[in-house]
Amino acid sequence: MEELKLSRRIFLKSSGGAAAAVGTAGAALLPSGAQAATPAGTATGTTLNYPKRAVGKAGAMPVNQAVNFAYPDASSPCAAIRMGTAVPGGVGPNKDIVAYSTMCTHMGCPVNYDGGTKTFKCPCHFSIFDPENSGQMVCGQATEDLPRIALEYDAKTDSVTAVGVDGLIYGRQANIL
Ligand code: FES
Repeated sequence: MEELKLSRRIFLKSSGGAAAAVGTAGAALLPSGAQAATPAGTATGTTLNYPKRAVGKAGAMPVNQAVNFAYPDASSPCAAIRMGTAVPGGVGPNKDIVAYSTMCTHMGCPVNYDGGTKTFKCPCHFSIFDPENSGQMVCGQATEDLPRIALEYDAKTDSVTAVGVDGLIYGRQANIL
């Protein structure tokens, strides 16, 4: 038994030493400066430069209807909804305006806003998304939430502006092409 303990100790010591040696050797193989080359955005969030695009005047947006626009470029359809009651992350005087990409995260079909259920519905394979809960996927084939469009509200001009995207737009490797 003592022999067994001893050999385990020797094994652990020697394997730990080997691991340390591998770690040292691995670090030595890195080109100088590689340790400092942290991918952009890893530590402090994304650094992509999203454009600012006017969505419209909050007071002119109909309640519980989709206002279509494109963001961050012309090939990315989106919809803003003035929900009628405050929602988490909502902007505007009533904190009730939200916006999302309208390309389904399953296979990119255009989703439609249904005011009766206050959801986005995909006609292709029937995924449903909840705009009052960050575009959360409720059911269906999709496995990702709808990308949310970050909005800013200027009370002086009553204007709503798109300023970013939270989530990857369907079919893209990066939101900014
Ligand atoms: S493309 Fe929307 S559920 Fe399949």
